[in-house]
Amino acid sequence: MQSTRPAEMHVRRLHPLPLRIMHWVNAIAMLIMISSGWKIYNDDVILGWLHFPDALTLGHWAQHGLQWHFFGMWILALNGIAYMTYGLVTGRFRRMLFPIRWRELLKDMYDAVHFRLAHDDPTHYNAVQRLLYVGILLVGVVIVITGLVLWKPIQFSELTALLGGFQTVRIIHFLCMSAIVLFLIVHVTLALLVPRTLVAMVTGGPAINEMKAKAS
Ligand code: HEM
Repeated sequence: MQSTRPAEMHVRRLHPLPLRIMHWVNAIAMLIMISSGWKIYNDDVILGWLHFPDALTLGHWAQHGLQWHFFGMWILALNGIAYMTYGLVTGRFRRMLFPIRWRELLKDMYDAVHFRLAHDDPTHYNAVQRLLYVGILLVGVVIVITGLVLWKPIQFSELTALLGGFQTVRIIHFLCMSAIVLFLIVHVTLALLVPRTLVAMVTGGPAINEMKAKAS
């Protein structure tokens, strides 16, 4: 028979350990993927004028860059699946990333461009942050799927056709990379401007007390 004990205090950190590990593994995997991807891109450019400087690429030559890309790919995909599962199962996505309301979004965007977006409550993401995080997670899903198609275009031939053919998939993959690089520039700049968020992503941040009725 199930009885419910009185509500009891349950203490958890703003960023629990598994989340922090997955966030930093993702950051490293992304850097490997971006820099090795630039090496591969340089070998057969999409935009004639765009070559990435060698100093920012990973791998001695294109094939070597590809080996790095395949290495990072497994870390990125497995870690990404773990993070998505964690976010959905623990309710973190629902708690931290939703809802995203138009009214709050417009107000926060207005405040952001006027440099007066409040940062007093680190346990709560503002609407702009929520939108950026949800957006970048979706871009992450698309870049992994298009990467899979570029890797195995014959095995995934239906998906290749559905997405508009190999060249189109290549362009989508490139656009996703560009979105991630833009996100990273903004994300890292903001983390450096508000260093206590960076410290929290390393140490776990403040404890969050919540009343939790525990079934026993
Ligand atoms: C060196 C690079 C990075 C740094 C310094 C960094 C820093 C941070 C910090 C400080 C936070 C907490 C923000 C807050 O509490 O207001 C955070 C959260 C987050 N970051 Fe990063 N990050 C990096 C790379 C990335 C990358 C590559 C991605 C994805 C493409 C990413 C996606 C996210 C997401 C989705 C969250 C929210 C996580 C959650 O609460 O579930 N980060 N990051």
